Amino acid sequence: MTTDDSHHDDASPDEDRRQSGGEWRESDTRAVDEPVLPDGGTEAEGADEATLDPWGSSTIADYRKLFEQFGIEAFDEVLPEVPNPHYLMRRGVIFGHRDYRPVAEAMRNDDPFAALSGFMPTGDPHIGHKLVFDEIIWHQQQGGDAFALIADLEAHSARGLSWDEIDEHATNYILSLLALGFDPDEGTLYRQSDNREVQDLAFELGAEANFSELQAIYDFDGETDVSHMQSVVTQMADILYPQLDGPKPTVIPVGPDQDPHMRLARDLAARMRYFGVTEAFASFEADAVERTLLRQAYDAREEYAEEPDRPRCGEAADWLRDHQPAPADARESVVAKLDEAGKEPLRPRTRFLDRNATAEAFEALIETIDGEKRVYDEHIDTFDLDHAEAEELARQVELDNGGYGFQPPSSIYHRFMTGLTGGKMSSSIPASHISLLDDPEDGYDKVKSATTGGRSTAEEQREKGGKADECPVYELYAYLLSGDDDEFAKEVYDECVGGERLCGGCKEQAAELMAEFLEDHQEKREEWADKLDELDIDLDSDRAPTSAD
Ligand code: TRP
Ligand code: SF4
Repeated sequence: MTTDDSHHDDASPDEDRRQSGGEWRESDTRAVDEPVLPDGGTEAEGADEATLDPWGSSTIADYRKLFEQFGIEAFDEVLPEVPNPHYLMRRGVIFGHRDYRPVAEAMRNDDPFAALSGFMPTGDPHIGHKLVFDEIIWHQQQGGDAFALIADLEAHSARGLSWDEIDEHATNYILSLLALGFDPDEGTLYRQSDNREVQDLAFELGAEANFSELQAIYDFDGETDVSHMQSVVTQMADILYPQLDGPKPTVIPVGPDQDPHMRLARDLAARMRYFGVTEAFASFEADAVERTLLRQAYDAREEYAEEPDRPRCGEAADWLRDHQPAPADARESVVAKLDEAGKEPLRPRTRFLDRNATAEAFEALIETIDGEKRVYDEHIDTFDLDHAEAEELARQVELDNGGYGFQPPSSIYHRFMTGLTGGKMSSSIPASHISLLDDPEDGYDKVKSATTGGRSTAEEQREKGGKADECPVYELYAYLLSGDDDEFAKEVYDECVGGERLCGGCKEQAAELMAEFLEDHQEKREEWADKLDELDIDLDSDRAPTSAD
């Protein structure tokens, strides 16, 4: 992969990677009566390893690989916890998530939560961006604080767009977002370059990350320009911005290509925390694997301790030596630590680690802990607090002492749409995608000439049925044209695979619906265009009209 710093020949290269090969297959994990069943099958034998590259062209041959390879979880698993799930969730278009549970829980309990996403203004907004607009809007309607930002710094530094181009595209994104239902009185819209708080936070977060790390995550090298790196910390700040007025579950709806950013943001959120809370068994430090061994030794104390309610570290060391649980290297290191601690009792406790706390905050935490505690240089052990209580206390002391108390941000991932001409949806191939600014007639025509999953003859189609799972037109129905109407989506699907629906009529219907959608959308855009001045977002930058490089 390249860092793509000088990429301004293509009108909007990012769209290429946003829109890549999701194909449809009947999912084996869903109930039969569910209407639309994509699950990223493995059509291409030995398909490429998934690569997740925010500035490259991620082709995702098999969405399931993302689960194993990157630890993204299947959305299906949290779906039952989501109140009134959006149709994109119900239909598996939103296929994955990281840590969405706290957001779902906040929704159920009417607790504060937020949703934020950002758009690089590199071209016209199109039906792929509409997915993300809809996701933000839906979270707003569920009671969340909603945020949308224009990633102008990123567009300038990573894509080489001029400020004039950026201004024009920025307005178009905002108008479509508003036309689709974003409530600007309740939500927040901003440009990265205009948001002082985001810039300040980016600077703070930058102090927690270094070049080697960006190199490992994004493949940056000695040629990568500094502004591009700054746009990364800016995105980290965007992602945490909703929590500046207090920690809350926050979901970032994005395509899976943005997952590297999510992993870094979650790391940085944790690194900014004043205190870590862990479980411990003795005064010494132990890592997660060592702790598992310590827990095993503690649980077996009846077997070896002279006084079972007061097992000694040295006794636990002997037991571990005899029993040899895996892994060997962790066992060796923990046995050494236990030997050294000797007569010290082995005793479970909840530990606060000083990560990023000021001296005052550390003192304040000591003061606040009730009950039995032991204070060390860099940690405090408590014996009367469980993990959850300790987390709560740590966050409170952090907030009272000037910290942010960030919760790790969550994310949800949607599938990329297939191009209307088959293959990728790409903005450099106008016929492959539908811009939200396309004339309704053009939209109609593009759908009419789209590739389908139909058979070569009407007769064969009646006999075998169409391949809805491989049909970009069916995708349009599922992702957009059916809206909230699951029954309609299911009807199209069933009729297609049952051979009752023929492609000519099916495309005609889709084309009409598309033209209607575009007409309605553009009317709403115009209404908003007249009101844009009243909104609290400055769409024109005051920058000199230079190019990025
Ligand atoms: N990097 C994103 C893109 O390529 C844009 C972006 C900037 C963003 N800041 C963000 C996305 C914060 C989600 C959250 O389009
Ligand atoms: Fe696609 Fe419709 Fe043809 Fe089925 S009938 S293959 S959904 S165009």
